[in-house]
Amino acid sequence: MAQIFPKWTNYIPLIGGAVAPLALGTVVAAFWYWGSPWFTDVGYAPTQPIPYSHKLHVGDLGLDCRYCHNTVEHASRAAIPPTATCMNCHANVLKESPRLAPLREAMATDQPVPWIRIHQLPDYAYFDHSVHVAAGVGCATCHGRVDQMAVVSLHAPLSMSWCLDCHRDPVPSLRPPSQVTNMAWDKDTANYDPARDPERKRPVTELHPPLHCSGCHR
Ligand code: HEC
Ligand code: HEC
Ligand code: HEC
Ligand code: HEC
Ligand code: HEC
Repeated sequence: MAQIFPKWTNYIPLIGGAVAPLALGTVVAAFWYWGSPWFTDVGYAPTQPIPYSHKLHVGDLGLDCRYCHNTVEHASRAAIPPTATCMNCHANVLKESPRLAPLREAMATDQPVPWIRIHQLPDYAYFDHSVHVAAGVGCATCHGRVDQMAVVSLHAPLSMSWCLDCHRDPVPSLRPPSQVTNMAWDKDTANYDPARDPERKRPVTELHPPLHCSGCHR
């Protein structure tokens, strides 16, 4: 009589026994990961594979955020620059520096530099940079004085209540859209009133940041 179940099916219970704890482990790890201080603790500042400094490149050299994070105005994500962007300068500047060895290696092997993420919302929360930038929310409002950071650290908790605090009353947090990447811009010095800004394409009365759940949980 032909066998209905081929012989390998004998191993199914065994495989199940091995996979189930693994799956459970993954779920536990996921909760531990998202719940861990890495992504919620203000001040979280991991050591990066290359000692890249915003303080030097933005604060001293005066590079604009968009030189590197060039998708921030048009996309949900603010892209981390590819190695080639750094090589625009470092093919000539400090081309022997040992601190830049991982950069040269990344270029030679065509592998991305393994930068460690600092800001990370859980998958179930939706965020879009371009909308905030267009409305005139400054990078510094959410990320702090990045131009003074030798190592980037988490400035705001990125919690739901943090998002909602602004969404309930966004107008005081707005600046002219042209000043979004200007780290030194100051509301009081500029004596800025968003309601009277001719530069704004959309009047502030037309801004409606979502408060309903499906606005951010899509
Ligand atoms: C010369 C390129 C360059 C410029 C200019 C630059 N950055 Fe960055 N930025 C990087 C690189 C590379 C990283 C990843 C390494 C790190 O975190 O330091 C990064 C990381 C970041 C992060 C953390 C990303 C994460 O993992 O969560 C933020 C926030 C950030 N940049 C904001 C800014 C702001 C704001 C400006 C302008 C004031 C700016 N950057 C200008 C290259 C640049
Ligand atoms: C517009 C030019 C420019 C770009 C683009 C640029 N750098 Fe630099 N970088 C410099 C200059 C100038 C210095 C300082 C040189 C000095 O100290 O003599 C520097 C210094 C550094 C140093 C310190 C090296 C040392 O030996 O002290 C690191 C690390 C570095 N850059 C990494 C990066 C990375 C990573 C990127 C891409 C995300 C990048 N740079 C993009 C111009 C640039
Ligand atoms: C309204 C608050 C807010 C503003 C304004 C803002 N960011 Fe972010 N940024 C965030 C949040 C939240 C994340 C994490 C996004 C995620 O995990 O999906 C983030 C992540 C990033 C990252 C990591 C890559 C990514 O997209 O996840 C970079 C780089 C960054 N921001 C740069 C900038 C720059 C440059 C500006 C100004 C042009 C800016 N941000 C303006 C809130 C903001
Ligand atoms: C400092 C103020 C501020 C903070 C902080 C902020 N937002 Fe917003 N958000 C705005 C403004 C202003 C708008 C634009 C509303 C409009 O254009 O009508 C907006 C719009 C949005 C939208 C609608 C975008 C779309 O495509 O429909 C989403 C989603 C959103 N924010 C999510 C978030 C999340 C998630 C966080 C926290 C991680 C956050 N925001 C933090 C001010 C803020
Ligand atoms: C402006 C954006 C925004 C809106 C609106 C919003 N949420 Fe959230 N929510 C978030 C973000 C961002 C997180 C992740 C927070 C974190 O990682 O600490 C989150 C997390 C959560 C969580 C996970 C538990 C927790 O507190 O971390 C639940 C549950 C939740 N939201 C339910 C809701 C419900 C229900 C509504 C409607 C009443 C809602 N959210 C509206 C942004 C939003």
